[in-house]
Amino acid sequence: MARLAGKVALITGIGGGMGRAAALRFAAEGATVVGCDIVPEGAEETVRLVREAGGEIESFAPVQLSDAAEAAAWVDRAAEVYGGFDILYNNASAPRFGPVDELSVEDWDFVMANELSLVFYATRAAWPHLKARGGGVVLNVGSIAGTRGVEFMPQNAHGTAKAGVINLTQQLAVEGGPHHIRAVCVSPGFTVTPSTAWLVESGPQPFKDNISRIPLGRVGQPDDIVNAALFLASDEASWVTGVNLVVDGGGSVLG
Ligand SMILES: NC(=O)c1ccc[n+]([C@@H]2O[C@H](COP(=O)([O-])OP(=O)(O)OC[C@H]3O[C@@H](n4cnc5c(N)ncnc54)[C@H](O)[C@@H]3O)[C@@H](O)[C@H]2O)c1
Repeated sequence: MARLAGKVALITGIGGGMGRAAALRFAAEGATVVGCDIVPEGAEETVRLVREAGGEIESFAPVQLSDAAEAAAWVDRAAEVYGGFDILYNNASAPRFGPVDELSVEDWDFVMANELSLVFYATRAAWPHLKARGGGVVLNVGSIAGTRGVEFMPQNAHGTAKAGVINLTQQLAVEGGPHHIRAVCVSPGFTVTPSTAWLVESGPQPFKDNISRIPLGRVGQPDDIVNAALFLASDEASWVTGVNLVVDGGGSVLG
């Protein structure tokens, strides 16, 4: 029996990386996937790959999720076309980095809009649909950056936004409980995707030192994260809410 049979899953940022892996896996597990991305070409390629594999998927792109009205329009259209949905998987995000005295206010605001507010916008729009459905799952993507500082990356804004995503998940779990809406978060450690692959090749030495100490001896692949997300989104996790599941090969437990 497919683990997401009969479910409709909205996934943000399906244009590449973990979003594409999630679309492929969720569809393979029986979900009808409704994706979106700001970059239409990447989303179209994901649609092609999912359909080629026999999965059900629709994509609306471009969608600028950091615009509350656009995010809501995507969510509402998905609900209208599919008669509701069961899962909102808030995967998309776009960071910017810089030392705290060099990061511009514009860059800070960009990160808050594209890593934190977009989660709120899509969730806010999804909430009435999930309540009407009698329950569902909001699955957020945090990061180990949300619970620590590092010396190899000036991730002040990024880490702050991800800390916000982790805490928002906890509050959503409380507010969602009476409506049978679960809110869960998966926090990846370093994972090789199109936006991070360069770090493995030419990242700074402190970064290389950091990943060389991962207890399980390797960096993450998108499917490592999606496997955890799949469990959390499925009915196997029906008594799991408010958690932040760290998937990082053990890297963040090092002192
Ligand atoms: N890769 C890692 O090492 C890592 C580590 C921890 C957390 N994460 C988190 O995992 C998630 C996926 O990461 P990834 O590496 O696959 O990212 P990615 O950059 O490869 O893909 C993100 C996708 O989201 C889309 N997107 C970004 N902003 C958008 C917006 N405003 N509206 C619509 N679409 C938008 C992008 O176009 C892209 O297709 C992100 O939330 C990221 O912060 C990644």
